[in-house]
Amino acid sequence: MEETLVLVKGDGVRRRLVGEIIRRIEAKSLDIDALKKMNVSRELAEEHYAEHREKPFFEELVEFITSTPVVAMRVRGEGAIKVMRTLMGSTNPAEAAPGTIRGDLALSLPDNLVHGSDSPESAQRELGLFFGQ
Ligand code: PPS
Repeated sequence: MEETLVLVKGDGVRRRLVGEIIRRIEAKSLDIDALKKMNVSRELAEEHYAEHREKPFFEELVEFITSTPVVAMRVRGEGAIKVMRTLMGSTNPAEAAPGTIRGDLALSLPDNLVHGSDSPESAQRELGLFFGQ
């Protein structure tokens, strides 16, 4: 069994899409082991997105995740990391396939609704940051 960190970002919370996103995760037979609504501090955001520090959109990304509450989830299941990334769709909602969360519900960056860990190493690190394990 694999575990991954999923965040419903501020745009998803503001648009009241948390239930719809959870519905899709559960419909795929993944388990939500832990869930909390929380504010993300600048310190946590900078650590979470550390690998993107040199990217031109880093500041925008940190600003986006710290400006409104998010819903953080520990999601578990067979191949959960990759399965979740597939459910989410491409990073840029304009390019995300219909049927995916971003493809169906989002239009443009940075408002792409969800974050999902991209590897087992990232998942361990990010779950530690958000859930302290
Ligand atoms: S990259 O360039 O391949 O490393 O990008 P990626 O790993 O797909 O995305 C890293 C996170 O940056 C967000 N992102 C952006 N935010 C704002 N503007 C632009 N142009 C942009 N491009 C990527 C993207 O949503 C990722 O955030 P999370 O929260 O992990 O989805």
